[in-house]
Amino acid sequence: MSNSQGTTPKTIVITGSGRGIGLATATILASRGHRLIMSDIDGDLAGQEAEKLSTRAAGFGLDVTNRDAFREHLEMVESEFGPIDVLVNNAGIAPASPNILEQDPAMTDRTIDINLKGVMNGTIEAIRLMLPRGRGQVVNIASLAGITGVAGLAAYSASKFGVVGFTESVRSEFYDSGLKFTCVMPGPVSTGMMDGTSSSPVVSMLSPEEMAAGIAGAIESGKPRVSLPHSSYVLSRLISILPPGVGIKVSKWTRIDKIYTHITPGARDEYEKRISR
Ligand SMILES: NC(=O)c1ccc[n+]([C@@H]2O[C@H](COP(=O)([O-])OP(=O)(O)OC[C@H]3O[C@@H](n4cnc5c(N)ncnc54)[C@H](O)[C@@H]3O)[C@@H](O)[C@H]2O)c1
Repeated sequence: MSNSQGTTPKTIVITGSGRGIGLATATILASRGHRLIMSDIDGDLAGQEAEKLSTRAAGFGLDVTNRDAFREHLEMVESEFGPIDVLVNNAGIAPASPNILEQDPAMTDRTIDINLKGVMNGTIEAIRLMLPRGRGQVVNIASLAGITGVAGLAAYSASKFGVVGFTESVRSEFYDSGLKFTCVMPGPVSTGMMDGTSSSPVVSMLSPEEMAAGIAGAIESGKPRVSLPHSSYVLSRLISILPPGVGIKVSKWTRIDKIYTHITPGARDEYEKRISR
């Protein structure tokens, strides 16, 4: 059986898909005939969005930081809906602060727990299920902040460097297993995560739908890396290979260093409150 894109429908689990990039990705994939399991720490929201999307979508509550709960969630999906073809580890938070000393230490820990350990939890548990079948794909949503450090996002950047390194490592460990590992590195995308941030004349903002189209394409093609937009990827790579002092000057000239350190007062309060719960 093929869908409108000529590909076989897959069973796809997306974490953090109650809103933002995860929801946009679920929307595109559902429109192409895939079965979507949408999980989010806000299970009610995931359930409501899944109901709006398709009869082949279902929403569940899941906190990705809980390894046992993640394993039980994936096992429940397999028993209710059949083998998982793709797990998208998308759930993430981005607390911004002028510098790391001004960040609440609890938020620093929470950032690593969700963005890095949550991705590791899901990847490990998905590998356990997929390995005996010799097929399946894990898509980990990192960031361009995972290839070059970004002022105002030190803990976030650390977590995303971790996601890139972890994904590249497991790809190498399971190279001949039939499993596929995809690392996605988005630049700024207009979700709640960008609320109140400043702009840079050299950095363009994607819509969640544009980003989701790149992720959906990687799921259908099995591509190992996706980085969008290309111009921001090139700039990030360039900054990462320049001598550190020069790279920082480039960030200052282009105002990249201001994006997450110069926040419009009040404009990010709702987002920061949501992610601290
Ligand atoms: N928006 C951007 O500019 C941008 C850029 C690069 C990478 N990303 C990455 O894309 C992913 C999605 O971000 P977004 O912009 O859509 O954010 P978002 O805040 O719009 O959505 C994130 C979702 O994750 C859920 N979530 C948070 N903690 C969770 C947990 N412990 N367990 C399960 N779900 C949890 C939230 O409830 C929310 O629905 C993140 O990993 C983020 O780091 C975003």
